[in-house]
Amino acid sequence: MSTHTIPGNGQPWLHQKGAVIQEFGTVKQFPIGLSHDARMYACQRLNQVLANTQILYALYKKHHWLVRGATFYQLHLVLDKHAGEQLELVDALAERVQSLGGVAVGDPRHVAEITSIPRPPDGVEEIPAMLSRLLEAHETILVQAHDAAARVAELGDDGTNDLLVSQVIRTGELQAWFLAEHLVDTPLVRA
Ligand SMILES: [Fe+2]
Repeated sequence: MSTHTIPGNGQPWLHQKGAVIQEFGTVKQFPIGLSHDARMYACQRLNQVLANTQILYALYKKHHWLVRGATFYQLHLVLDKHAGEQLELVDALAERVQSLGGVAVGDPRHVAEITSIPRPPDGVEEIPAMLSRLLEAHETILVQAHDAAARVAELGDDGTNDLLVSQVIRTGELQAWFLAEHLVDTPLVRA
């Protein structure tokens, strides 16, 4: 009897291995009216923003879980709302890379190699430090997104420009506003 039985009767082929069929950092040819170089450049910039957005999403979840104190409930809710909106951006950015013929960064360990956002402590920070950390992550992404949006527009990539401006920048600016207003030292009870 052979050691390799051919699956039959609905038996799935398990434990399969195969070659990588497209390397990270490459783009395949797609007929979308954009040059190879423009698509390569956009994918590289998009993957940087994508990696940082995945980290921002994870930071929001971490802080959603770890907040404490008198404002626990409202922060717990708003941080989760922002996390959900960042997760939508993650998907939009990744699918933009794919629609340009590229390979989106997906594995969290690969994300960790690409991100420019500093790693937080594994433990719990005080709330103002948590919120400051999130604001700095937002600004890192916003600076990158503004620069990338302008450069991809010069190369004719209007779709990537639109994604960065209409979704990444607009969402990031709004979320930064909500965070920053929590750091205003204003009286709660007596003026
Ligand atoms: Fe939750």
